[in-house]
Parts: sequence; C-alpha cells; structure tokens
Amino acid sequence: MNKTTVLDRDIDRVLITEDEIDRLVTDIAAKIDNDYKDSEGKLLLLCILKGSVVFMGDLMKKITIPVEIDFMKVSSYGSGTESSGRIKIILDLHRTDLSELDIVVVEDIIDSGKTLSYLTEYLRLGGARSVKTCTLLDKPSRREVDFVPDYCGMEIPDEFVVGYGLDYAEQYRALPYVGILKPEVYAK
Ligand code: IMP
Ligand code: MG
Repeated sequence: MNKTTVLDRDIDRVLITEDEIDRLVTDIAAKIDNDYKDSEGKLLLLCILKGSVVFMGDLMKKITIPVEIDFMKVSSYGSGTESSGRIKIILDLHRTDLSELDIVVVEDIIDSGKTLSYLTEYLRLGGARSVKTCTLLDKPSRREVDFVPDYCGMEIPDEFVVGYGLDYAEQYRALPYVGILKPEVYAK
C-alpha cells in the first residue's frame, strides 16, 4: 500500500492505477519499437513540457531501439481547467535540420486537439522526415479540431484529471496515478 499524501485527499477517485499506467506505457513502447525498427531516420521522442515529463521518462526506458530525446514547451492553458485555445511556443526545438528525424511527439493528454494539431503542422513545416503523435490519455468528446493521435494509451471521459505529470495550478504532477480531482478543489 502506498503512503497517502496530503494531495491524495483532493482526489475524488483514482481513474488509472500505477500498474495500469505501466501496462499502457509498455504497450505504446512496443508499438513504437515495432513501427520504427526498420526506419532509416533517427527517432526523436519530443516531450511536451511539463505535463508529459513523467510519461516520457517511463516510455523512453521501455523503448529498445536507438532514440534521441528533446523538449518543447507550449502553453494553451491558464491556471484553470479550460483551454485558452491560443498556442504559444515557450521553449522551441533548437535544431537547424529536422530532415533526418522521425519525430514522435509525446503528450500527456489531448483535449481540444489544438496543441497537437498546431505542433505537428509546425514540425512538418520545419522539415521533419516524419511526425507522429503519442498521448497517454485522450478526451475525444472534448475535441474542437479534427485530430487523431497515432498512439494513445487510453480514452477517458470528460473529467479533469491530475497526477502522473498532469497538474491543476501546477500541483499534483508527482502523484504516481491518474486521478479525478474533487470539483470543490477548482471551485475554490
Ligand atoms: P488541447 O490543446 O486542448 O488538446 O490541450 C492539451 C493540454 O491541455 C494538455 O497538454 C494538458 O496540459 C492540458 N489538459 C487538458 N486536459 C487536462 C486535464 O484533464 N488535466 C490536466 N491538464 C489537462
Ligand atoms: Mg500539456
């Protein structure tokens, strides 16, 4: 039994346990291994900060083919639970030539779809050899633009979730599971 932290008390219920997450990540890593094993490009896992950092760390350890990593940071959310819809690049990919790179964008969760549709277009225009997207979680019912990820751990209902990298107002990222936040926490 894991220790209960002060943060656990703000969780209504656990949606995905640590063990379940581990299985989802293992499956995605196996698919990526298989899809890129014969590629002549260089595989780059591109972590979208900050929410994807825990997923990225676990995923890269389970991938067995050679892989480079890099990071970008974008913002689309304010401090609340609704997307502003405007994507701003806060940390860019500082590489001059993307033409040898098979990029897999690693995202924590897809909501409106605006972040990943913007980023994939940005990377394709930047000259990447190929661009695919990988998300641990997806809320398809929230989509505002057409977007389907190439790899997805699990589709979830329209609930605001935290943990395993996902935050509310920068908190709860370090929880090892994905949980649904008590609505009274963000109604405060
Ligand atoms: P999109 O551009 O609307 O698809 O937004 C995706 C981003 O919104 C994710 O990278 C998260 O940072 C954030 N987000 C969306 N839903 C949630 C949630 O339930 N919990 C925490 N962050 C979320
Ligand atoms: Mg994010």
